[in-house]
This record gives sequence, structure tokens and C-alpha cells, in this order.
Amino acid sequence: KRRAVIFDLDGIIVDTTGLQFRAWKKVANDLGCNFSEEQNEQLKGISREDCLKQILSWGQLQLSPHNFQHWMQKKNDYYLKYVEEINASAILPGVQELINSLDRKNIPYALGSASRNAGTILRKLNLVSKFSAVVDGNDVNEGKPDPGIFLLAAQKLNCSPLSCVVFEDSIAGIKAANRAGMISIGIGKREILSEADYVFKSLQEVTESFLLTLPALKVQ
Ligand code: G6P
Ligand code: MG
Repeated sequence: KRRAVIFDLDGIIVDTTGLQFRAWKKVANDLGCNFSEEQNEQLKGISREDCLKQILSWGQLQLSPHNFQHWMQKKNDYYLKYVEEINASAILPGVQELINSLDRKNIPYALGSASRNAGTILRKLNLVSKFSAVVDGNDVNEGKPDPGIFLLAAQKLNCSPLSCVVFEDSIAGIKAANRAGMISIGIGKREILSEADYVFKSLQEVTESFLLTLPALKVQ
């Protein structure tokens, strides 16, 4: 039977969480709003538009459509400036080992990211060719928690959603995986990722033997 793994990008494959936070904080502060790390937790995994809408609602601000586009662009300009510095050293601990063991077991894996910058980042990490499929924010209209990104990844992998395992660091991403009917593995804090089927502090703690005991990945 076909089985597969789907990886989120930001905060799972690559350490960009701090860069996303810095870029949004600059925008929020420019707009006269506060922006905390706890608030940033809510923005993980959701689309750029939804992030700005959320920041505006926290700050009780409204923008004209023209200004909304302006600040979206501004955020991406800040973010891309930070992303320029990224190279393979930003690949998170445990990623290489995990993809090596998936390669050894012939289990295909895809990327499922809400970011429209996913392609740029994967290229900087020299990881593009490793993934059997890449689905990102350019392929869908809705970010997470909508399950569309993961469902499209499963479709491209030619795999039933029930035989997919998702690695996610965000609340929205765990919800998306659950709604897609996939096994959700949260990487981060259990208090934050309480809806995940399993939670580990880091990908480094995810062993091959654990993965192979998951019913979704078992060869039947
Ligand atoms: C990822 C990040 C989010 C970000 C989203 C859109 O899911 O976790 O924090 O808002 O991608 O990213 P983009 O690069 O398209 O602005
Ligand atoms: Mg993420």
C-alpha cells in the first residue's frame, strides 16, 4: 500500500520562525500595534493575508484594500531580506536523519507549506530534489487550518490521506492535518500542540522504530 510523510516547512524543516516573527513585528510596530511571541504562535501556518488580518484585529485597526496590499508587500520585503541569509545550516536538527531513514525505507515524502516563499527557501537549502511533491501557498487559496494543502500533497503522492503522517509545529497545521484525516505529529510544546496525535520536542526525538509502528505507515 502507498504510505507517505508530509513535512511542514517553517519550524519543521528550517528555522525561519524567528524571521517570520521579526518581519511581522516590524509591520505591527510600524502600524502602532504590539506583537508578542504568544500572538506569533497563532500566526504560524496561516496565510500571509490571514496573519495581517489577525494583527489588525488585535490592534483594532482597519486598512483600505490598497494599504492592506502595501503592508503585505512590506512584510514580505522584510522577510525576504532575512531569508537571503539562509543556507543549509538553517536546516533543523533531526531533519537529515529522518529523511535518510525514509529514503532507506522507500517511504516518499512531500512538503506541505502555507508559504508562498517555500520554493525560494527549499532552493537555498538545496532540498528541492529530495521531495516527491511540493505543495505551497501558491497552489491553494486557503492556508491552514484548511486541510487543502495536505490533501493536495496526498493527491500528488498518489496516497490516501489515511496513510499519511504529517509533521507540524503550528496549531493551525495540526488542525489541518487532523481535518485531512491524517496522523498529526506536533514538534514543539505539548501545551500548545495539544490537538496533535503525538508531540515531540524536536524531530531529533522521532525514531525510525516509532514511525514504523504507526498504523498509517505500516506495510500490510
Ligand atoms: C508558513 C508560516 C506562517 C506564514 C505562512 C505564509 O506557514 O508558518 O507563519 O504566515 O507560511 O508565508 P509567506 O512566506 O507566504 O508569507
Ligand atoms: Mg510551521
